[in-house]
Amino acid sequence: MRKQIAAANWKMNLTLQQAEQLTHELLASKRNLGANQLVVFGVPFPYLLPIKNTLQGNGNMYVAAQNCSDKKSGAYTGETSAEMLKSIGLKYVIIGHSERREYFNEDNATLAVKVDLALANDLQPIFCCGEPLSVREAETQNSYVEKQLNESLFHLSADQARYFVVAYEPIWAIGTGRTASSDQAQEMHAHIRSVFASKYGEDVANTISILYGGSVKAANAKEIFGQPDVDGGLVGGASLVADEFASIINSLK
Ligand code: 13P
Repeated sequence: MRKQIAAANWKMNLTLQQAEQLTHELLASKRNLGANQLVVFGVPFPYLLPIKNTLQGNGNMYVAAQNCSDKKSGAYTGETSAEMLKSIGLKYVIIGHSERREYFNEDNATLAVKVDLALANDLQPIFCCGEPLSVREAETQNSYVEKQLNESLFHLSADQARYFVVAYEPIWAIGTGRTASSDQAQEMHAHIRSVFASKYGEDVANTISILYGGSVKAANAKEIFGQPDVDGGLVGGASLVADEFASIINSLK
């Protein structure tokens, strides 16, 4: 069975003390995870090591960086390379979040470079895609998302593609309280999987976990995660509340 993943994206929130407290509360309230279930915390850079240490000894729980540089190394003040993330023992990095695309001008070509650097450093990308409201209203979301995948991922080999986690995050559902319906999520996830299948074959497509993101909360997680092509979620606001996120974890298939 594909990995089912509850991924938190803390974005630029919490002090270290608040982050530690949230993690401890969550560890106290979570149930044991099944062998195919993972929890990944996308935390700000300064908290990667402390939260990684707090999670130590809890099976199937990992930290992820929220971004990495598109440069290998060198005079790029303020940047963090994939190699640095590898060197602190990370396994995951979020790449291509819509906030990075929108506020930091990351385009599909730049993201392709980041994906390459992540894979070269044994990091598994959690690659985000998803359409803005105008595209959804024009009903061209399938080709929009397909283009994002095509231009950032499809230069890779089938063996590399096996390592992808994809997060479908419709921009109109992020932080708005307006969730995609479970039917809309399933429809897009099935489309994404079919696009992978035509590029890499069914076998590879069926190993790729596709997460849904956009106003996931305890109250809707079970229904969304219950869809056949939805393999968990990438959660913003609700991941900052221990009870909410614990319940979301418990909603994994
Ligand atoms: P919200 O869950 O706050 O809508 O954010 C979703 C998101 O952007 C996760 O990466």
